[in-house]
Amino acid sequence: MNTTTLVAAFIVVVSGLIWVGTQSNDSDWAGNRNQCVGECYEDWKAENGGTIAAVEQTKQAALAAASPEALGEKYYGQCIACHGSRGEGGIGPMLAGQAAADIVAKLTAYRAGEERGAQSAMMYPVAKPMTDADLDNIAAFVASL
Ligand code: HEC
Repeated sequence: MNTTTLVAAFIVVVSGLIWVGTQSNDSDWAGNRNQCVGECYEDWKAENGGTIAAVEQTKQAALAAASPEALGEKYYGQCIACHGSRGEGGIGPMLAGQAAADIVAKLTAYRAGEERGAQSAMMYPVAKPMTDADLDNIAAFVASL
């Protein structure tokens, strides 16, 4: 088989698939089946306790009302691999038992790219994206360990 035959065969197959596709369309199809409007949306609202906006608002309010400690615990998920689930330490030093102010000061130093210990480089990418609120929340959680 030469290239021309292959290309011709390919074109025939693709054309055939397109033709089959056009023949098998469902004439009753009336738009995007993934849309949830009308009755579907009413059901969704009943199940979820309100409109999409209301549900989102409730979620945001709950997040805003969450304690710094709870928010810190959530953020701490990405620290567990190196500092242990209870701050007991591992690859990184033990955090449990440290005062909140110390945790904030140390993280602030890493965030500023300051060298503390020999392995500070491991903490730079972790601390860099943290906001002041993140630091406070983490410190509140760590202090509770
Ligand atoms: C990839 C491993 C790793 C991850 C992930 C990590 N750390 Fe660290 N952390 C370290 C290492 C290693 C050190 C010691 C750095 C040094 O030598 O200065 C350290 C040091 C620290 C210190 C200073 C401890 C002390 O007493 O000197 C704090 C506070 C800290 N990390 C908090 C965190 C927090 C909070 C997170 C998650 C947001 C986190 N780390 C994620 C490895 C990690």
